[in-house]
Amino acid sequence: MKNFAGKICFITGGASGAGLGQAKVFGKAGMKVTIADIRQEALDKAVEELVEYGIPRENILAIKADLTNREEYKAAADKVEEVFGGPPHLLIQTAGVNAFGPIEASTFDDFDWVMGVCLDHVINGLLIFVPRMIKAYAHKEEFHVATTSSMGAFMAGPTTGPYSAAKAAVNNLMYSYAEALKPYGGGATVLCPGNIRSNIGNAEKYRPEKFRNTGYHISEGTIKTLNAIHAQGIDPIELAEILKEGIENGRIIVLPSRDPSSWAAQLRVQHQIIEDYTLTAEEREAKAKKRMEEMQKAFAQAAKDQDSPPPPPRWEIPEGGEPFGLARADLDWVDPNKKKK
Ligand code: NAI
Repeated sequence: MKNFAGKICFITGGASGAGLGQAKVFGKAGMKVTIADIRQEALDKAVEELVEYGIPRENILAIKADLTNREEYKAAADKVEEVFGGPPHLLIQTAGVNAFGPIEASTFDDFDWVMGVCLDHVINGLLIFVPRMIKAYAHKEEFHVATTSSMGAFMAGPTTGPYSAAKAAVNNLMYSYAEALKPYGGGATVLCPGNIRSNIGNAEKYRPEKFRNTGYHISEGTIKTLNAIHAQGIDPIELAEILKEGIENGRIIVLPSRDPSSWAAQLRVQHQIIEDYTLTAEEREAKAKKRMEEMQKAFAQAAKDQDSPPPPPRWEIPEGGEPFGLARADLDWVDPNKKKK
């Protein structure tokens, strides 16, 4: 998709972080932008921020909806057609939440909440919008579906199990849509960021009541630590510009850098780790040790060499913060080292 001006865009999770950055960038490109989000207050603030950013108010539609709910998602889709006169040319599904803790400590609530937002809402949007988009635009106008996934899609995460599983599924879905939409003249892209300067660290604060039975240790302190980490992430506007460039150039996976080769190296390591799962335990351990030594050498070299990219930023637990990724203290099957002391 190359022409955005005058076209319709629908962004989930558009009230904050990456989604709000996307609303700014695609709104500036002349699109009519719908931001759909579960939090009304954040939506109200986002609309004002978009207007301040220079997006005409009449080009902005804010819809409060829990997009894991199919009826609410359908109602949001109908509303866009009613207000802007058609389904989106560009669907960007960015709503997401994360919860950190040992996978063996996870409850059904942990899985249902994270997979509901990170995977089910994406399926809802694709099933509701894609038929409408094909009917309205196939072979007539450009149209495209995009989803914000994560670098976590490419790696196993012992403390981000539900999240990584949801994101891996989302990636796979988007590869399928990229192939499937080609004959209609449509396209698909999956954005896989690393760390974003966003509010995702606060997601636990609005975890719905029905999903509150978590197996993880969550506190003000863990939230503080997460917020300190995300404060070091990529600027959402820059990330959205990278996504826009990716969509314009027909990239199916968009990595979070203007120089995708720097992240492609990390992708290769992850693929290698997965390939190594086929080896015997001994072979795998020997390779993992060698890989670690090579990485340490590369970082040491990078520290000496001005032209090399710097090693990834280190983070420390801020004042008042606590380590995250631990299990609740009362789970008697979980290794004590993985539990809140
Ligand atoms: P954010 O918290 O700033 O924005 C996410 C938005 O999703 C929030 O406004 C939230 O209200 C909304 N949302 C949550 N549940 C919803 C539901 N049921 N229905 C509708 N809206 C809902 O977080 P951020 O970081 O901007 O997240 C955007 C995407 O980026 C997510 O998919 C996340 O997984 C992904 N991501 C984030 C990274 C990070 O470091 N922050 C790294 C990699 C990927």
